[in-house]
Amino acid sequence: INIYIPRDAGALALGAEKVAAAAREEIEKRGLDAKIVRNGSRGMFWLEPMVEVETAEGRVAYGPVKPGDVAGLFDACLIEGGAHDLSLGKPEEIPFLAKQTRLTFARCGIIDPVSLEDYEAHGGLRGLRNALEKTPLGIVEEVTESGLRGRGGAGFPTGIKWKTVHDTEATQKYIVCNADEGDSGTFSDRMIMEGDPFVLIEGMVIAGIATGATKGYVYLRSEYPNVHRILNEAIDAAHAAGMLGKNVLGSNYAFDMEVRVGAGAYVCGEETALLDSLEGKRGQVRAKPPLPAHEGLFGKPTVINNVISLASVPIILDKGGAYYRDFGMGRSRGTIPIQITGNVKHGGLFETAFGVTLGELVDDIGGGTATGRPVRAVQVGGPLGAYWPRDLFDTPFDYEAFAAKDGLIGHAGIVVFDDTVDLLKQARFAMEFCAVESCGKCTPCRIGSTRGVEVLDRLKQGIAPEEQIETVTDLCNTMKFGSLCALGGFTPYPVMSALTHFPEDFRPAPMREAAE
Ligand code: NAI
Ligand code: SF4
Repeated sequence: INIYIPRDAGALALGAEKVAAAAREEIEKRGLDAKIVRNGSRGMFWLEPMVEVETAEGRVAYGPVKPGDVAGLFDACLIEGGAHDLSLGKPEEIPFLAKQTRLTFARCGIIDPVSLEDYEAHGGLRGLRNALEKTPLGIVEEVTESGLRGRGGAGFPTGIKWKTVHDTEATQKYIVCNADEGDSGTFSDRMIMEGDPFVLIEGMVIAGIATGATKGYVYLRSEYPNVHRILNEAIDAAHAAGMLGKNVLGSNYAFDMEVRVGAGAYVCGEETALLDSLEGKRGQVRAKPPLPAHEGLFGKPTVINNVISLASVPIILDKGGAYYRDFGMGRSRGTIPIQITGNVKHGGLFETAFGVTLGELVDDIGGGTATGRPVRAVQVGGPLGAYWPRDLFDTPFDYEAFAAKDGLIGHAGIVVFDDTVDLLKQARFAMEFCAVESCGKCTPCRIGSTRGVEVLDRLKQGIAPEEQIETVTDLCNTMKFGSLCALGGFTPYPVMSALTHFPEDFRPAPMREAAE
């Protein structure tokens, strides 16, 4: 029998390694013919470490498991027919999972992440094989037809980006995967790279064939050492099986790839700073044009896509662009892996078609706050995303619907706050974050963020509040329209949304105390 114990970083942080060691000991002690598979996570972090056991009726789950529970679990499975206090039944029937539409994450938590055989047995490589039957332009058309938009945050149509690189003549082209997942409350890139790394490799190979690129780089944030290990194991396995190399799966297409680790700067998630860093320089934002699609890495045409964008390509090539396009709403097609985090009862990864509302995600799926207090605000889209009040919770997850209400989906991370949150403090944090992470190249961001902290501090002290609010609003406008990249340009979102939707928090302290 197979026993599945995740080696996802989230599960490891909660003690999965010790659970695996206890299980190994128990197998030896009892002389069992059992194998421990280190799978990825299913993405229900309040249940991690979640252990799954293969039975005649399929897999059954237990969680959250502590090392001290392991002996009792073996007794339950071997002697008592599987009943145990930690029993969760079949994982796919747990409501959090049952309500999802898993296209990109279909295999995550199910397979052995570094077994290409397991990957193929669960539908892997079908997309690549179909791609090899098409012309490069045919692949680009399929991706365009799917309506896939960049999942890193900007939502630019992937097919159009690929077409630009396809149409640009050059002796060398590159595929760069942006795995510098830096937004607060996000972990979907990490989870897929740890739970199903071959789907990213397959997506990158397809992107290479479609655009004429023969070399790929994964730019990985240094905070993900576990991903680094797993991804390298998977790349080695892909090489050994001929999925990477001079003749991809026996074809005439060549594609090779490697992982490069960043050095901890948030701004290196911005695509041009990322390219500088990849070239061995200090990561600073480049002015556009030229677009990376025309002149990117080492001056060559380069596709830069986020992990999830690339990992969504195999299913599109497997089932067709029209199949993928069928999910979603408006111009937001397909599914999006939403990460529910912060002060929330059921935190985890929820992949669903676009169109689900913020309220459904926070109240029904997330189950409200972990503290049991009322939800007051959620921040969507990382540290540069807007704060949403309850009366906007009917907003559907859709790029245009979010933009219409001065917010952004970004990388689809949601951070939940209860009624103890101080939105003035959060606004100050946004300005401070920008000041710390600014690459320093342009004035609105470099100077504006530092002045922003000072102005909000004066507001907190109750010094001429109307004047401070006017100044911070003016500053936000300058940063929004005058910054070179999204770091300075988007910092106004959290600040202005906090000010607009929670004005009571911006009243000077003495007035607030009087009101309370
Ligand atoms: P952008 O709108 O300037 O560009 C989007 C993408 O489309 C880029 O790759 C750009 O090169 C490409 N592009 C634009 N026009 C093109 C054309 N005609 N042909 C081919 N390619 C074209 O947005 P930017 O500044 O790259 O990204 C901002 C987003 O990043 C924000 O929306 C934010 O949510 C997100 N973000 C994500 C983070 C994360 O951790 N994932 C962290 C911080 C920000
Ligand atoms: Fe650098 Fe900030 Fe300007 Fe972006 S907005 S280029 S991070 S100084």
